[in-house]
Amino acid sequence: MSLPTTGLPREQVLATLQEYRAGDLAARGGRTFAYVYDAGRPDVDELAHEAYASFLDVNGLDPTVFPSLLRLENEVVGITARHLGGDDQTVGSFTSGGTESILLAVKAARDGARVDSPEIVLPVTAHAAFQKAAHYFGLTPVLVDVDPKTFRADVDAVRAAITERTVLLVASAASYAHGVVDPVEEIAALALERGIRCHVDGCIGGWLLPYFRRLGADVPAFDLSVPGVTSLSVDLHKYAYAAKGASVVLFKDQAMRRPSYYACADWTGYTMVNATVQSTKSGGPVAGAWSVLQAVGDEGYLELARQTLSATRRLVEGAGRIPGLRVLGEPEMALVALAADEPGLDVFAVCDEMAALGWYVQAQLSYRGLPASIHLTVTASSDALVDELLADLATCVQVARTSSGGADPAMLAAVAELDPEALPDNVLGTLLPLAGLEPGAGLPARMAPINALMEAMPPRLRERLLVEFLGMLFTPAREG
Ligand SMILES: Cc1ncc(COP(=O)(O)O)c(C=O)c1O
Repeated sequence: MSLPTTGLPREQVLATLQEYRAGDLAARGGRTFAYVYDAGRPDVDELAHEAYASFLDVNGLDPTVFPSLLRLENEVVGITARHLGGDDQTVGSFTSGGTESILLAVKAARDGARVDSPEIVLPVTAHAAFQKAAHYFGLTPVLVDVDPKTFRADVDAVRAAITERTVLLVASAASYAHGVVDPVEEIAALALERGIRCHVDGCIGGWLLPYFRRLGADVPAFDLSVPGVTSLSVDLHKYAYAAKGASVVLFKDQAMRRPSYYACADWTGYTMVNATVQSTKSGGPVAGAWSVLQAVGDEGYLELARQTLSATRRLVEGAGRIPGLRVLGEPEMALVALAADEPGLDVFAVCDEMAALGWYVQAQLSYRGLPASIHLTVTASSDALVDELLADLATCVQVARTSSGGADPAMLAAVAELDPEALPDNVLGTLLPLAGLEPGAGLPARMAPINALMEAMPPRLRERLLVEFLGMLFTPAREG
């Protein structure tokens, strides 16, 4: 691939882009149970495309020169705050996604507290973005176990982990892996008592859970109205069905938000003050999100939630009856984790078998005693497919029972003994072919052997291998 000497015709460029998508997961149609959120509303998708495209060229770097973006953001944040228990003190920022919202909440906690060697207490089910934030911003993550039956944060463990250096407690509503809501009221009360901030990660559950509650589901209190909650993140590009690049981080008041901002006057260029990690940013995401909120409306979201809740309940009930599988915990959200309920059944092989039948379900590795599982993010468009999904899932479990998964047990035992700190990078690269990953060979057809290899490794080694793998994937296209 090289830069064309003469520009290509529009049709050719667009056709090539479509060709490139041929190997992608389907973003629409309800058969992809992670990464994408499909309302099953082509009218909404069309509007989002148009609105997004019409704001692509404006720059959110400076709200004084593109006041349309200021207005859109203030309206989106206002709607989100009202949806999530905010009051007239509540403020927020529109960000590119859950990770950026979490980065800002963690930075605000660090800079607001000004303690040496700051720590953040994280139930192991809290999203990895908090550890990424701790890594970027120099905080120490203190991981605490969750209840092994309910998968909810253990309040006593959180309490025991608090020190003078703790600047933030985190509760999920809901957790990605198991779809359960942590005891937010108790964790926030602890934070209040100790004068610490408490962030509720509603990135995936924040938009949908209030609708589930209105539909009669038992959803515990989790939003900004809970005493002690100081910030909350909610991704509009998840269950608000906005196009990607849309999240909001809400803060209880301006004093809480202030340290999330960044200003720099020590340079020679334009006046620099940023509400977010990104500086130059397209107006597309906020215009897209605003438009989708306007077009779907409260009643529309309630209807989408009704379909999602119905699909989730039927999935939980039906999957629980498939011999060999069990549902982990009792999910309050439209997120379901299925673990093996019999020895020898490889859930990673089930994921591969499902892929062969045209579904995408996601492998989750075991961690600190919590079992490996199959993750399903259920959206409104999956409602009509639940019976077909359950039938195929039962078939795939049968097939997986007799498949070996493809990993050599001796090799798995050997990698479990490796010391991640002692392995040089060049040796690490030699582990990739063991999992069937050869540089230049393209993406692997089956993920079960790779997952089995990673499952056998200690977490630090998993991380190093993943970095190696990503480096192998992102290799510039050479002229050929
Ligand atoms: C609970 C939770 N928090 C944070 C995130 C991170 O969001 P993003 O991928 O938009 O950065 C996710 C993503 O799935 C999530 O489920």
